[in-house]
Amino acid sequence: MCGIMGYVGREVAWDVVVSGLRRLEYRGYDSAGVVTVSEKGLHLARRVGHLAALQEAFPAGLPGKVGIGHTRWATHGGVTEENCHPHADLRDRIAIVHNGIIDNVEALRAELVAAGAKFRSETDTEVLAELIGRGVDKGLSLRDAVVGAMKRVEGTAGLVAVDKKDAERLVVARIGSPVVIGLGEGGSYVASDALALRPYTDRMVVLDEGEVAEITATGIKTVDLEQRSREKRIEKILHQADDADLGDFPHFMLKEIHEQPAALDRSMRGRLDAVVGSARLGGLQQHEQRLFDIRQVVFFACGTSLYSAQVGAYLMSRYARVPAQAEDAAELAVKNPIVDRHTLYIGISQSGETADTLSALREIKLRGGLVAGITNVVGSSLSRETDLGTYVHAGPEISVCSTKAFTAQVLATELLALRFARTRDLSATDGRAWVAGLEALSGQMRLMLEHAETCKKLALRFADARFTLFVGRGANVPVAAEGALKLKEIAYVPAEGLSGAAMKHGPLALIDHGSPVWALVPPDETRERMLGNLRELKARGAIIMAVAAADDAETKSIVDYVIPLPPHHPAVSPILNAVPLQLYAYHVALAKGYNIDKPRNLAKSVTVM
Ligand code: M6R
Repeated sequence: MCGIMGYVGREVAWDVVVSGLRRLEYRGYDSAGVVTVSEKGLHLARRVGHLAALQEAFPAGLPGKVGIGHTRWATHGGVTEENCHPHADLRDRIAIVHNGIIDNVEALRAELVAAGAKFRSETDTEVLAELIGRGVDKGLSLRDAVVGAMKRVEGTAGLVAVDKKDAERLVVARIGSPVVIGLGEGGSYVASDALALRPYTDRMVVLDEGEVAEITATGIKTVDLEQRSREKRIEKILHQADDADLGDFPHFMLKEIHEQPAALDRSMRGRLDAVVGSARLGGLQQHEQRLFDIRQVVFFACGTSLYSAQVGAYLMSRYARVPAQAEDAAELAVKNPIVDRHTLYIGISQSGETADTLSALREIKLRGGLVAGITNVVGSSLSRETDLGTYVHAGPEISVCSTKAFTAQVLATELLALRFARTRDLSATDGRAWVAGLEALSGQMRLMLEHAETCKKLALRFADARFTLFVGRGANVPVAAEGALKLKEIAYVPAEGLSGAAMKHGPLALIDHGSPVWALVPPDETRERMLGNLRELKARGAIIMAVAAADDAETKSIVDYVIPLPPHHPAVSPILNAVPLQLYAYHVALAKGYNIDKPRNLAKSVTVM
């Protein structure tokens, strides 16, 4: 959820830590802080607000060659300077930054208060810092004190600690929340996300569950919570074409919307078989035999990823004729799921770190279920903990509002549905037609992007609307919901996305003269019924913006505006339909002057439950 960056080496730690935090700020941005260690001891800088506020308040930075920093998304305690990380123990000997939530914080706090502690903040992190500080006071090394504290903690923690008496070392620990360590020339780095390490090194070590590492400028030493030494593999950080720079775009969201054609091409590369009319997904190949025995598919995910899962479930049942459903991972994890040996469970997560999705994954695995993962982040927890899976290769997604990950995830489910369909009912001819449809997709996506100006005009017309409705049918019901989520998330406009069929069962009452409605009307089996739904909406005064085939005269005669769809394979319409809705939400948010890439109250990766 929050961003962590740490450094020990030859450079000025402040510079490295702040520039790393800048790359991670999308993960949390309600406050920021850095602590460094020099021969004079600990130096602390913290501010409420974005990282820029911290830099403005400390223009000269802080001294020292060891430092740790944090950008926060508040969980325990309000957004105040006292609650900002880093937190020190009560004698200001050690300081830590921490991602995650300590579930047994109240018991630990009570114990420490009874022993005389007077805490300065409301955070669980300060309690953790005090636990570690007391260990160090008793003569333990920082590493041993961290191990001792981690053994007492229930919940999640990715943490980095420094000791004012040791300006040569960082100690890092992981329970639940991800931490990666970068090995550079003359310096070592720690971050909550490999994205922050890219400018410095391409060599990293990923800390596994229950590991603690001691890091110096020249290397790392890792142990588990029983103090047994652990051998760590050095992995390569993949540098991707679309990196974390804005380029000529004013916002990451717009940049990422425009990166979609390239992302789709990358996601498909080497995965289509035009001769056989099928798809191959590397991570699934070694389990092909097991896939033949699968009788049901259950996708699980949260937010935008859940909508991509719902499209996937529709495609899987419609084309592969395999019973499929999409579950909200947060609910699945707690509802005592019935896990079946002939079911394939598929977790979808852009970040691969969403706590609810990981919790569902672990629950299913515990019950012996076969779990696959679809994720964008190489080396993420989802990719490490699933039995099989595939990367979507959308490239780093920085804007909190997900766009290119959504379409790439839907594409991954298409490839999977195609693979399943070809082992079951789908003929070679139909399979080849689908492959041809996928091969043409990025070109069609480029055509959709050409309507950006029209989407902007519509956004300006309806920017002040009280409420906006999105309707679709079939595989496009989740796309309607995704369109509504975009508008809520960045433009703060109340919005709903649902099936056109659901309107007359209640939501039609919301429609009044001039109510804006987006309608997804691709030329497929859903169109006829959708037109009926649009007539009902029109009769109540709705102003309808439709995404429909360029030559669909009947739709044109009913609605007010049309964004034309190029001819396409019916299975890919959810991917094309998403584009105008993304552009519309972007321009409404822009017209309202909101912080598009960092919407209020949100963070990119939700690593708490
Ligand atoms: O990283 P994940 O895909 O697991 O994230 C799930 C949701 O938190 C995420 O999709 C969220 O809904 C987006 N910010 C929406 O744009």
